[in-house]
Amino acid sequence: RYTITQREASAEILPGVRTPLWTYEGTFPGPTIESRRGRPVVVTHRNELPVPTVVHLHGGRTPADSDGYPTDLVLPARHPHTGHGGHGMHDPRAVISRGTRRYTFPLDQRPTLLWYHDHRMDFTAPAIWYGLAGLHIVRDDAEEALGLPAGARELPLMIADRAFDAGGNLAYPALDPTLSERPGVREPYLAGVLGDVILVNGAPWPVHEVDAARYRLRVLNASNARHYELEAVGDDGRRLPLVQVGADQGLLAAPVTHRSLPIAPAERYDVVVDFADVPVGGRVRLRNRLGSGRTRDVMAFRVARRAADGSRVPRVLAADLPEWRRSDAVRVRDFSFRAGRMRGGHGWLIGGLPFDPARTDVTARLGDVEVWRLVADVHHPVHLHLVGFRVLSRGGRPPLPHDAGLKDTVSLRPGESAEIITRFDGHRGRYLFHCHNAEHEDMGMMANLEIV
Ligand code: C2O
Ligand code: CU
Ligand code: CU
Repeated sequence: RYTITQREASAEILPGVRTPLWTYEGTFPGPTIESRRGRPVVVTHRNELPVPTVVHLHGGRTPADSDGYPTDLVLPARHPHTGHGGHGMHDPRAVISRGTRRYTFPLDQRPTLLWYHDHRMDFTAPAIWYGLAGLHIVRDDAEEALGLPAGARELPLMIADRAFDAGGNLAYPALDPTLSERPGVREPYLAGVLGDVILVNGAPWPVHEVDAARYRLRVLNASNARHYELEAVGDDGRRLPLVQVGADQGLLAAPVTHRSLPIAPAERYDVVVDFADVPVGGRVRLRNRLGSGRTRDVMAFRVARRAADGSRVPRVLAADLPEWRRSDAVRVRDFSFRAGRMRGGHGWLIGGLPFDPARTDVTARLGDVEVWRLVADVHHPVHLHLVGFRVLSRGGRPPLPHDAGLKDTVSLRPGESAEIITRFDGHRGRYLFHCHNAEHEDMGMMANLEIV
């Protein structure tokens, strides 16, 4: 049981200035919740912010009434607020709470790194940008018995870019509530909002002291729109291998070694890096090959001392990953993710339509296996609520090495198509799928998935 108060706070993110934030419990990121598989967690959120909010546990197998549907608002406890947000769109199924709301998470799922974040309709991107994001780690005995690096050698890394104005305020260029009702004003930000400061766990370009040993880096890209291709580079310019042990929805069947690792918004990669061969005093920089100038750097590790290392990376990680076959699928569906016209301006559409809470886009039957074919015009990281899926193909070819394991977000590259396969199980009810470029999501690229 947890109680989280959503409130305004400030933090010294850049040296010498206070940055006002919207927070969970006064910090950015919010408090990290650690849970055991199958042990339900109840989180009561109290909204003391000046805006309505919605809480979603990303990657959680959560009953629909606790999944954070974008119109299931928690209205501000203190501030008078009348509108329901979102262009006055009426949703008769919305369950509005005033001040507080209790979310129940059964967490009957594989251990993995989840994250919770705001999910209010048309307002998710600014809400996350201003600080409404936190980590939630699910663990179990089987995973702990593997002997992966643990304790101080397990590092959750929430990577997010932000822009700051001269006064240290977070600058969200597309945000002006009076303008957002006017069609077209967000057009300059169609590609999404980027920042030139890279934060890791809320700190700009941190340097973390490590032992000359293996570390388990649990990486989340919590950026609104920025893509990264991460590499770990030593002082001698050589890249350290990134040994991937897990994906969005938990451990892989077996480790996969990468020289660099692309990570789209909302994706998680669980990666082991071994600093054993780095000389004491040496540095390893985590860099973004897709960045330029100062956005090329993410953080650094400084090797402070030699140390014993009892950790290991077993050859078999998870023996029970679902292996759905094409022939298991009772249905194949096609979805395009493309730019288009909405509400008189530009927007982002799924199958030619912008998000509408009153329309059911997909009705899937509980227990059915389906193949979804996704096609994109530009980069779109596509996320499904409730379920994990496997990537079956990319661009008509076998999936790439980083597509391994159970995913809940797949990064479609420009002009690319991909096929995913999943089984709709766990809960019935109204869920979502959407692009996790947060601006795309707010500009229509979301759809309803009803599980019956
Ligand atoms: Cu990160 Cu709809 O979620
Ligand atoms: Cu989600
Ligand atoms: Cu998108």
